[in-house]
Amino acid sequence: MACCALVIAVGVFGALGLTSGPEAPAAPVAAEVLEDAMPRDFDFYRRNIEPMFVRPRGYPDQDGNGACVMCHTWQTSLRFALEDMTETPEGWGWTPGQSTLNYDVVTKLVNASDPTSSRLLTKPLATQAGGVGHTGGDYWESTSDPEYQVVLEWIEMLPAAQFTPPPEPPLDFEFYSTCVQRMYQNPKYGQLSCQECHAGGFTGFAPRAANGTAWTEQEARRGFEAIQRLILAGNPVQSRWLLKPLHPDGGGSYTHNGVRRWQSRDDPEWLMMAAWVRGERTGSDCTM
Ligand code: HEC
Ligand code: HEC
Repeated sequence: MACCALVIAVGVFGALGLTSGPEAPAAPVAAEVLEDAMPRDFDFYRRNIEPMFVRPRGYPDQDGNGACVMCHTWQTSLRFALEDMTETPEGWGWTPGQSTLNYDVVTKLVNASDPTSSRLLTKPLATQAGGVGHTGGDYWESTSDPEYQVVLEWIEMLPAAQFTPPPEPPLDFEFYSTCVQRMYQNPKYGQLSCQECHAGGFTGFAPRAANGTAWTEQEARRGFEAIQRLILAGNPVQSRWLLKPLHPDGGGSYTHNGVRRWQSRDDPEWLMMAAWVRGERTGSDCTM
């Protein structure tokens, strides 16, 4: 339903000449003033992208997904953290100043040189349609979803020189299949091992070795694929995989229904894994 509401909203604004879309005829003075004060894509962002983050999607009343802001303000310790909304006489919303801060965050999720590779597009997109997987769920069944199209239109407006993220360092597979496997198999402090809870299912990123001792190449490849979703290569402090098992006092996630393996980011094992996520650690030597 949300998709259709959006189409209608865009249609109505279009008819009234209020949209800031590229085809919209330039409304006289007011638009010029706005254009002077703000880049045009910011105006488009405020009208079309930000409302998408708060749009109700049926959860919890029906079986739908949650609104993006349910998880993307302070909850997930991720870089996609929007401002807490402000209460105004018209209801809850973001002030222009807060929108500017949000804009700085959201533009980190785009790649204007290669728009369809932007995480803002690939995360909510179903994996069957080319999405990369998203703990928050699938929001768009295909790239023809109107929301997808509006986000794409916005990203295409952004100047590539300014909004192209640096290339991500490659994660070394050999280190993964030796040192990461060792970590999965060897719990600390008498806790359960990662694979006790993460061998399969929705959060199944830590497969068990079918032979009980070591992964086959195929098993390791599967796990390596699965974990990419939870890592931001080059950026360990915003990689969920390194945040969930880290104690909250040491900079970890607020919640993890599992274990806290590391008390702080000074833990030698955390540092070693972080170096791997930055692309600096390779090979099968797991010395800390
Ligand atoms: C139920 C909680 C939840 C909801 C609702 C949710 N997300 Fe997420 N999202 C997450 C979690 C957890 C992650 C980190 C793990 C991952 O990337 O899958 C994430 C990651 C992301 C990322 C990658 C962030 C980065 O730093 O690269 C994007 C982009 C994103 N979500 C977009 C959205 C959008 C857009 C919506 C709404 C249409 C949404 N999410 C709704 C939980 C949620
Ligand atoms: C006792 C069971 C248990 C153990 C052991 C456990 N976890 Fe978890 N973990 C969970 C549950 C349940 C969730 C989902 C709810 C939540 O996010 O807390 C989760 C979520 C996660 C997520 C987010 C997954 C996603 O799809 O967004 C990561 C990453 C994670 N755990 C890493 C680890 C690592 C690494 C270990 C081993 C050091 C570990 N966990 C050990 C139960 C466990």
